[in-house]
Amino acid sequence: MKVAVLGAAGGIGQALSLLLKTQLPAGSELSLYDVAPVVPGVAVDLSHIPTDVTVKGYGADALGDALTGCDIVIIPAGMPRKPGMDRADLFAVNAGIIKTLAEGIVANCPKALVGVITNPVNGTVPIVAEVFKKAGTYEANRVFGVTTLDVIRSETFIAELKGLSTSDVKVPVIGGHSGTTILPLLSQVEGVEFTQEEIDSLTPRIQNAGTEVVNAKAGGGSATLSMGAAAARFCMSLVKGLQGEDVIDYAYVEGNTGDATYFAQPVRLGKNGVEEYLPYGALSAYEENAKNEMLATLNADIKEGVDFIA
Ligand SMILES: NC(=O)c1ccc[n+]([C@@H]2O[C@H](COP(=O)([O-])OP(=O)(O)OC[C@H]3O[C@@H](n4cnc5c(N)ncnc54)[C@H](O)[C@@H]3O)[C@@H](O)[C@H]2O)c1
Repeated sequence: MKVAVLGAAGGIGQALSLLLKTQLPAGSELSLYDVAPVVPGVAVDLSHIPTDVTVKGYGADALGDALTGCDIVIIPAGMPRKPGMDRADLFAVNAGIIKTLAEGIVANCPKALVGVITNPVNGTVPIVAEVFKKAGTYEANRVFGVTTLDVIRSETFIAELKGLSTSDVKVPVIGGHSGTTILPLLSQVEGVEFTQEEIDSLTPRIQNAGTEVVNAKAGGGSATLSMGAAAARFCMSLVKGLQGEDVIDYAYVEGNTGDATYFAQPVRLGKNGVEEYLPYGALSAYEENAKNEMLATLNADIKEGVDFIA
């Protein structure tokens, strides 16, 4: 298994790379790419951890070498939020970075599974898809927006609220990855009942959890450690699927919900990425309303990404 992390010297990139060094199957290769000159040092540092995963660092001019032969590419490259910014404010800077990296993937590992972390995810995933389409290499089942952080935050907050173990809490989260486009399906959390008051406070808390971190870091960036954990969890789902295990996870994909061109939904993962798009099930009236209200925002975010390449 060869896995590349693009933006590996950043806050998320380093946390993710550390976890992958300790979690990837023995014999795997971890390929760390960044434009920051510290990236070879990050690779040397990680290479001293005793696991059977080799780590190599690649600097600004070595994107092709970093990507050649990759099975999975995870992208946390780009600028994070500062207090007062929302994710859409990052588009102007990050769209160009994602375009360049997607062109590198097309040229060097067009069959890789690609997980996009860079915000705004609602618009950066369409950019990757459009670059692949232009090159004639697009397969919707191989391109994912990583929304796992919304899932793990939901699990944590619900376990805290209800006095449960996080390992017993499973929360479907659908839609997109910003503000109201993040829709946790609290009505589907097995074995847990919520009062309307709890739903009214928990839903926006999950939607704005990223801002809690941005404000607490006071100008020092956004979620990196929890995002590293979320990305590692999603990457390991992709790895297990490639190894032939039957895995179901949630991701922002060009799927089949009919709600928007790209929408986070449950997917069955396998040797070709998504093997099956699964339905998200029945929504409560509250969730149905929240879904309908988010669609204009989500569609505008998607259009911005598509238009950037067009
Ligand atoms: N999907 C999510 O749930 C989620 C959660 C948190 C943060 N994010 C996003 O992830 C991104 C990274 O956040 P971070 O906190 O790690 O930021 P960071 O600034 O710590 O790291 C970003 C890294 O990207 C590198 N980079 C910039 N341009 C590059 C290029 N062209 N090629 C390769 N690398 C490049 C930088 O050198 C830096 O090392 C941000 O856009 C942030 O908004 C997404």
